[in-house]
Amino acid sequence: MKITVIGCGYLGATHAACMAELGHDVLGVEIDPRKRALLAQGQVPFHEPGLGELLAKHVASGRLRFTDSFAEAGAFGALHFICVGTPQRPESLGADVSYVDAAVTSLAPHLRPGTLVIGKSTVPVGTAERLDAVVSAAGAELAWNPEFLREGFAVADTLQPDRLVLGVRSARAEQALRDFYEPCIEAGSPVVVTDFATAELVKVSANAFLATKISFINAVSEVCEAAGADVVDLARALGHDERIGPRFLGAGIGFGGGCLPKDIRAFVHRAGELGVEDAMSFLRQVDDVNQRQRQRVLQAATTMLGGSVTRAKIAVWGAAFKPDSDDVRDSPALSIAGKLHLRGARVSVYDPAAAETARAAYPTLDYAPSAIAAAVDADLVLHLTEWPEFRSVDLATLGAVVRRKQVLDGRNKLDLEVWRDAGWTTRALGRRTPALSPARLALVGPAA
Ligand code: UDX
Repeated sequence: MKITVIGCGYLGATHAACMAELGHDVLGVEIDPRKRALLAQGQVPFHEPGLGELLAKHVASGRLRFTDSFAEAGAFGALHFICVGTPQRPESLGADVSYVDAAVTSLAPHLRPGTLVIGKSTVPVGTAERLDAVVSAAGAELAWNPEFLREGFAVADTLQPDRLVLGVRSARAEQALRDFYEPCIEAGSPVVVTDFATAELVKVSANAFLATKISFINAVSEVCEAAGADVVDLARALGHDERIGPRFLGAGIGFGGGCLPKDIRAFVHRAGELGVEDAMSFLRQVDDVNQRQRQRVLQAATTMLGGSVTRAKIAVWGAAFKPDSDDVRDSPALSIAGKLHLRGARVSVYDPAAAETARAAYPTLDYAPSAIAAAVDADLVLHLTEWPEFRSVDLATLGAVVRRKQVLDGRNKLDLEVWRDAGWTTRALGRRTPALSPARLALVGPAA
């Protein structure tokens, strides 16, 4: 099919390249000239495993082109996918839908009758209903088909989504989308057909649920710490319950990124506009628990450094909001690094992919070229984004460059027993320390 993808950021660039891979002819519309020039050369302006290869392949094959012209898009496509961002508004918790509105109103005068406009952006419920009037007036039809891709797995998630949600108003629109996604459906992606409002809500509900799961385990991790229990063992045991499942029970410094934090805030905000804020008010606590994790790390680091971080040298391993990404939007790692710097610590940050984006966001921090370089003369190593390379750092080399052998694992992914065997003092959020905590000692006695 001939399709257009309006907005070629994370979501749009991935959708465009993957749909070309599925055999469609794709025209990407990107108004930022720098991004458009890179994409047209087959280059991805951000870090996403496998996407560069796919993009280059289909720019070369001719199945994927880019333009800034809505007139060209209107003439070209039978299906138009809206993939622009919906960031948090500066003045409130709500989502800024102005890019979605602009994309639809810019496209509308060029739409051919009978074509389909498909929203993929994450929007407050009710947006599709509002835009339907604009699209219908142009003789076209609207559908809503939210995207659930994860950064780092964006290509696989798009080629083989774990579900396709189709918010449609006609059998014709449903059939067009079923035909379009036929390779995914054939390969087993389940399809849920529903109305606009439900399709919009599925997306924010999914992200709110994931955020709640993470904050749940993080809240429990604080109790574990107080009681001398171990949150990693606990999460493993919880995860064996099929009703709960093991994923998104990784306790640590919490969630960040361009989606989870802003989506839960926008959900609360929209619920308020709909007069049901109380129903969603627990999401405020989910957000609070998440922010609290950052404070817990700062406190733990301060304790390890004898009560003050001022003038201490701290190696921060990781800046991206999660591994396999160079995205530092709302990154817990970078936020902690920034706060330590403000409190007078000498912070040296290393991230395998996010140095450039981190430098643009926090220019005053020092950035090192390797994990070892960041740790030279360090009083404390902070493990804040769980890149695999941090788990295989040579502890003898590391031990020789630091000033004090102290490590704090903010992601509960290091094998701290090995570190302790190498002479390190270790700490982690919600983990049993080798010596029993005072509260637990009082309960079980020193012989336990
Ligand atoms: C998320 C959703 O997963 C995806 O479906 C949606 O389309 C966009 O938002 P993404 O932002 O790429 O995807 O990241 P995700 O893998 O969900 O991780 C979000 C954050 O949660 C990261 O900061 C990660 O470190 C953190 N996390 C994840 C935890 O702290 N613990 C966990 O157990 C899992």
